[in-house]
Amino acid sequence: MPPQNAGSAGVTNTGAPVPGVTPPPLPDPEPVKPREPVAAPPPVSPPVKEFKSQNQSEEYYSIKASVFNALIEAIDLTQLAGMDQEMAREEIRDVVTEIISLKNVVMTIAEQEDLLEDICNDVLGYGPLEPLLSRDDIADIMVNGADKCFIEVNGLVEQVNVKFRDNSHLMNICQRIVSMVGRRVDESSPICDARLLDGSRVNVIAPPLAIDGPTLTIRKFKKDKLTLEKLVEFGSISPAGATILEIIGRVRCNILISGGTGSGKTTLLNCLTGFIDQDERIITCEDSAELQLQQPHTVRLETRPPNIEGEGEITMRDLVKNCLRMRPERIIVGEV
Ligand SMILES: Nc1ncnc2c1ncn2[C@@H]1O[C@H](COP(=O)(O)OP(=O)(O)O)[C@@H](O)[C@H]1O
Ligand SMILES: [Mg+2]
Repeated sequence: MPPQNAGSAGVTNTGAPVPGVTPPPLPDPEPVKPREPVAAPPPVSPPVKEFKSQNQSEEYYSIKASVFNALIEAIDLTQLAGMDQEMAREEIRDVVTEIISLKNVVMTIAEQEDLLEDICNDVLGYGPLEPLLSRDDIADIMVNGADKCFIEVNGLVEQVNVKFRDNSHLMNICQRIVSMVGRRVDESSPICDARLLDGSRVNVIAPPLAIDGPTLTIRKFKKDKLTLEKLVEFGSISPAGATILEIIGRVRCNILISGGTGSGKTTLLNCLTGFIDQDERIITCEDSAELQLQQPHTVRLETRPPNIEGEGEITMRDLVKNCLRMRPERIIVGEV
């Protein structure tokens, strides 16, 4: 019989006060996400940041479309997918350069480079999202239909001039992202959670549910995650509060962390997992895996949405139930 029953498994989760421990007085945290300045509302349209290869005219887009179509006819894209990225890029570069000269397109060298970069991103990567994905300072990327894209940097949301050709281009990119984790998104299953290879969390909601076009939200994976010391430094939590959390984490109290979206629940949970002993058996249940546990004895579980026939769904409840038969010492439920 497992030495540990469900009752003693530490459910590190989201927040009821721990019996016997007075919750630390709430410090005056700096707002995690300063939304709008308290003063006057922003002018009618806030400035839109422009990215090099996105700052193009209608003409550029139509040239790109015609070059792109010629490229698709000239090479086998599925073959490219199997190639090494660098080789694939070289291949595309050769063919596109040839197409440009055959079509007599007049372009500067810089425009041609932009075009090549754009096309490579479309064929091999996540299209117009690539420049955003490669930036480490971005916390969230929010795409509301083909023409509107917002990012969050240092707690502030700003609009950027990243555009997709049209909604079906955006939908293709969404589909490419979710197919990496064996999922699909279309009109018949318009909601989908997924994650990128780097651990970033992705949500797609498509028409007809999203009225103004496919809506993509990416919570970027942070490499340098926040530690409890940093939270103290920021004044998010008092030193005494941090000590209490450390004790709670170490002694396997049941913990519930609750709060609004983006309020720092996952960040705090990640901090607390640092206090779990190295030899504990930990099982995590998440909708899409984002926790970063360092302990060697960790099993990560993920829920599964139903397939097209509406079958095969595995819910959080199913996972937690199964956990109890896995001799857990800690169960971490990512989202309830
Ligand atoms: N105390 C904090 N101070 C500053 N930024 C924070 C703090 N806690 C979290 N963040 C940042 O806020 C964003 C959202 O945090 P996250 O933990 O993912 O929120 P939630 O899980 O509640 O949606 C992340 O970019 C994270 O780095
Ligand atoms: Mg979270």
